[in-house]
Order: sequence, then structure tokens, then C-alpha cells
Amino acid sequence: MILVTGANGQLGRRIVDQLVARRGGVAGIAASVRDPARAADLIGRGIVVRQGDFDQPETLADAFAGVDKLVLVSTDGPNDVRIAQHRRAIAAAVAAGVGHILYTSFIDVAADSPADFAAVHRATEADLAASGLPFTALRNPLYADFLPMTVAAARETGSFQLPAGSGRASFISRTELADAMAAAALAPALARQVYELSGQATHDYHDVAAAIARASGKSVRYQPVSEDAYAAALEASSLPRWLARAMANMYSAVAAGKFDRVSNDFAALVGHPPRPLPCLAQELFGSR
Ligand SMILES: NC(=O)c1ccc[n+]([C@@H]2O[C@H](COP(=O)([O-])OP(=O)(O)OC[C@H]3O[C@@H](n4cnc5c(N)ncnc54)[C@H](OP(=O)(O)O)[C@@H]3O)[C@@H](O)[C@H]2O)c1
Repeated sequence: MILVTGANGQLGRRIVDQLVARRGGVAGIAASVRDPARAADLIGRGIVVRQGDFDQPETLADAFAGVDKLVLVSTDGPNDVRIAQHRRAIAAAVAAGVGHILYTSFIDVAADSPADFAAVHRATEADLAASGLPFTALRNPLYADFLPMTVAAARETGSFQLPAGSGRASFISRTELADAMAAAALAPALARQVYELSGQATHDYHDVAAAIARASGKSVRYQPVSEDAYAAALEASSLPRWLARAMANMYSAVAAGKFDRVSNDFAALVGHPPRPLPCLAQELFGSR
């Protein structure tokens, strides 16, 4: 059985959907969620839904019982909270006799990264290695889905600000990433322990602005700002302080080149490359 955690979340739900689509049915596919009442549609489709909360480790023995492959979707929150949640999930998987964990990691896990997010995923990958269980780290790039929010200011002012300097990154939609993860979970064997699910090209945010401008037909400019100025702006827009700082230092990591990575790993799993930036921009910003 393949079980996906966080199946009420946006990525987790898409992974379940892609597993069903790839397998052509729901047999052998299960989901764990914190609140099964919010998974009525999955239950209605015949998918096994179990209650599992990484903050309530006593729920995880039943949630992970009989699971061959566990797709562990990373949680959200301050670093210490997330690392502890992932650690409890890994310990429960070991105790339940899970055969293999596939973990939704991040493209930036560098020890010298300024990003808080990098520290979480680096710690969880280390915990996976220490667990003794076979595991696969599926390192996600930036979700393309977040681009409209990232550049929202441009709708009013024609420009958006980020502390990304001239750093480069790639973007893939959650749905495409979910397909790559489903493909990895269904593969009889995986060639590598780490898959970097980057796009096949990286772009700086001037390129991103130009792609959005082409798709939308409106002028869009990118203005680099300092990490502190960006964190302060996010905090002023009522983001919690830890998240404002984590978002800001993630873009500092972009500026430092930590997201400037390309690979064919996505295509190796899915059979074709992810959609390039102009396609994503057309879908997200095009005038229909
Ligand atoms: N690459 C990127 O650009 C990017 C951007 C944002 C986030 N992320 C990471 O990717 C993950 C998935 O993204 P998303 O868009 O699907 O976020 P989301 O919709 O907010 O989902 C968050 C997920 O975390 C799960 N979760 C939270 N606390 C948990 C706990 N105590 N025990 C078990 N599960 C818990 C939730 O489980 P339930 O299903 O039970 O609600 C939910 O599925 C995020 O949590 C974050 O780690 C990546």
C-alpha cells in the first residue's frame, strides 16, 4: 500500500489524485489526514483514509500500519516545530515497518544557505538517513502556483519587489510536482536517493517579470530590495514574524545562487520535462 500524508493539503491531495490517475484506480492507495471529516470526497471515491497527526504520535501507528511506501509531505511552521514533526513521522514509520519513505524535500538544502527552509529539509534528510529505512528525497523547486501572490503588487504599481538580487530559480506547478512524486512512488525501483525536481532552465526575476508581461500584455518590472525591507513589508501585511523572515531569507538564498540548479530528474520520473516558464506564465497570467 502507498500512503500519502497531508492529503487534505494542496500538494498531498494532488499526489493522491496523480497516484489514482497513474494506477487507473484507487486500489492500494491510502491517505492520512489530520481531520478525516475534510476528506469526505476521498472516502467517497473509495480511497482508504486514516487519521494521522505528527503532533499526536499515538495516531501514527494505526495510520502507517501495513504501508509499503510512505509519501511524507513536509509540514509548515517554524523550523523546530517542522523538524520535530517530521522526526516523529519517521520514527513512527520505522516502528510500523514501512518499507520506503518518499519525502517532499526542497531544492535548497545547502549547509551554508541563508534560508530557514533549507535547514528544515537538511535536518529531515539527515533524520531519514539515520533511520535506516530506504528513502528517496524528492527536492521541490519553488511552486509556480505562488507566482501570482509573489508579484501581486505589480497589478497596482507595475512592479514587484523581492530580495532575490539577480539570483536564478526554476518554477514547477504543484500538479506537475505531484505527478513526479506519484511516478516515484509507483516506480518498481528508483535509480537515485535524491531527485532534484528542478525545471530544465533557471530564470532571474527580471526574466520572470518579462514572461509575465508577455503573457498578460501589461508592463511588469522587478525591483530587488534588501532582505530586511522585504521581511518588514511581509510583517506589515500581517504575516507572522517567523514566516516573514523565512520567506525573506529564502529569497536571499535565491540571490546567493542556491536555487540555480537544473537537472533532468523530473523527466526521468515523469517521461517528459516540466512546463517551461512561458507556458506557466500564460496559464497564470494570460488574458484568456
Ligand atoms: N516548494 C515550495 O514552493 C513550497 C511552498 C510552500 C510550502 N511548501 C512545502 O510543501 C508542503 C506542502 O505544500 P502545500 O501547498 O500542500 O501546503 P498546504 O496546503 O498548506 O499543506 C500543508 C500540509 O501540511 C500537513 N500538516 C501540517 N501539520 C501537520 C501535522 N501536525 N501532521 C501531519 N500533517 C501536517 C497538512 O496536513 P492535512 O492534510 O492533515 O491538513 C497539509 O497537508 C508545505 O507543508 C511545505 O512544507 C513548499
